[in-house]
Amino acid sequence: MQEDIKLCDVIIELVDARIPFSSKNPDIDNLASGKKRIIIMNKADMADARITSLWEDYYTNLGFTVLKMDSRVRKETLKVTDAVKTVCKDKIERDRRRGIIAARPIKAMVCGIPNVGKSTFINSFVGKATAKTGNKPGVTRGNQWIRISKDVNLLDTPGILWPKFESEQIGLRIAFIGSINDNILELREVTLKFLDFLKDNYCNILKDRYIIEELGDSEKLLSDIAEYKKSIKKGGEIDLDKACKLILDDFRSGKLGRISLETPSNIE
Ligand code: G4P
Repeated sequence: MQEDIKLCDVIIELVDARIPFSSKNPDIDNLASGKKRIIIMNKADMADARITSLWEDYYTNLGFTVLKMDSRVRKETLKVTDAVKTVCKDKIERDRRRGIIAARPIKAMVCGIPNVGKSTFINSFVGKATAKTGNKPGVTRGNQWIRISKDVNLLDTPGILWPKFESEQIGLRIAFIGSINDNILELREVTLKFLDFLKDNYCNILKDRYIIEELGDSEKLLSDIAEYKKSIKKGGEIDLDKACKLILDDFRSGKLGRISLETPSNIE
């Protein structure tokens, strides 16, 4: 990534609008110093709109150009061309002054963690299925240059996580949104923490979706949800593991409604 960044004029970072801080690779700030920066808050349709606006201000104040987006909608992705040209207007102007009429295209790197919607974004933006999409973390492999127009070339990079999260909170939030393969997670623990979060922040969603009147502690909540959803093993015993998957799937597929997991004032 370090080598690739040197080649590029602008870095487009996709973050998940539900966790715009935790899903942003902290290493890129060092690697990309001096480069133009655009943040796409993707899956904005799944996040709490009020909190997304707070994040928009937060990153704008740090000097980023910020776009909120549902990448499945092509029209929304087309805003990126204008944003790229605007942040690179000095370079375009410089090339023009030097008489480079057919200026070399702007080189934009697209990066983001697995499952953030990078392939979906590129497919919509480019207009045909060039990047493979999939629901498993890390489907995009190897780097790929994609010509968007005579003005802009995109470098698609693999979705990667960095070696060590700065806090447990960051790791959990990345797990909640499905960017870490569930097979390597303690799914029960992750789900209990997720229920803790919902209880504190979106208790009505829990009550309405799973028809629960009294919210007990998260262990009790999990077994209540398992009962309500009839997650039962063959012998009639309650299937808590199945309930965990179901709850996380409900969140990840948007069935729980618009939820943001962090605000600029509660990041660690
Ligand atoms: P990646 O390349 O970054 O790994 O992610 P990818 O594009 O494969 O997207 C992961 C999942 O997120 C896909 O859903 C995709 O449809 C969904 N997605 C991407 N962008 C957005 C967005 O802006 N809003 C919403 N709501 N969803 C988005 P999937 O269920 O895993 O696959 P599929 O059923 O769509 O094929």
